[in-house]
Amino acid sequence: MPDIIVSEDIRGAAMDELRQRYDVAFEPDLWQDPDRLLQLIDDARALLVRNQTRVTADVIAAGPRLIVIGRAGAGLDNIDTNAATEAGVVVTFTPSENAISVAELTIGFMLSLSRELPAADVSTKAGGWERKRFTGVELYGKTLGLVGYGRIARLVAERAQAFGMTIVAFDPYLDEADAQLLPLDEVLVHSDYVSCHMPATAETRGMLSRERLTKMKPSAFFINAARGEVVDESALIEALQDKRIAGAALDVRADEPPATGGLNDMPNVILTPHVGAFTHEAQDRVVASMCLDIATVLDGQPAANAFAIASPARS
Ligand code: MLT
Repeated sequence: MPDIIVSEDIRGAAMDELRQRYDVAFEPDLWQDPDRLLQLIDDARALLVRNQTRVTADVIAAGPRLIVIGRAGAGLDNIDTNAATEAGVVVTFTPSENAISVAELTIGFMLSLSRELPAADVSTKAGGWERKRFTGVELYGKTLGLVGYGRIARLVAERAQAFGMTIVAFDPYLDEADAQLLPLDEVLVHSDYVSCHMPATAETRGMLSRERLTKMKPSAFFINAARGEVVDESALIEALQDKRIAGAALDVRADEPPATGGLNDMPNVILTPHVGAFTHEAQDRVVASMCLDIATVLDGQPAANAFAIASPARS
């Protein structure tokens, strides 16, 4: 029976090394089969996931030998961290390894929305030469509103400042920051670009509600490379349809993969399949960091990046 179960597509040199040292069941589609996961976990000491495996209290209870869950990424919303901690199981994650890539995607979205790059590309490849149609706007002199001012948001702010933007931010956990902190409604009222940078928690789910979206300027763009659940997606669709906001770029959705329809036909919307962290550099860092922590815990040492407990409280 395997020591380690990998239930999503997690590869790289560090994973190869782990596979040489331990008996690893590499099952990249296992996240789609929760019943099989419940069976396989029975004998495993470690479970390695990305964001698609639902690591529920039932999964944790089904693994009596489980001592560590490794998350190849920053968000822990797919793992019942309370159940893990209560069971004495360590949850490791990679809180900063993909931050630069997500920040760069956010800046890419801002530029793409401002200059309608996807539509201009389609039009030109179809033989068009529509210079007037693709008259855009500059980032220079505009206000960027960051909802959540953690690690990724600060990297976005640094880059946006180089474009000559003013940064405002909402973060209920900060009293001071190197950006102007404002109440959320004021961030929405003043910003030309609103970008989400908070995890999905009970507090943030639906935070960008129908009412909140009405505060945005009609010329403003909405960007989300954080978690789909933080915005009311049907309210966002209506705001875009009614031209109450200028456009949106979404890397994340409430359901992933999402059902088709709604946003897919909108010319002022850019959609990508949750690729913020998917650069070669970020993935090398993520996989190396996670595999190191997993081997460390399996070797009886405390994890460097762990939620709540760094060493297992079960043998
Ligand atoms: C993260 O939470 O690190 C990113 O959203 C990427 C991922 O979920 O794998």
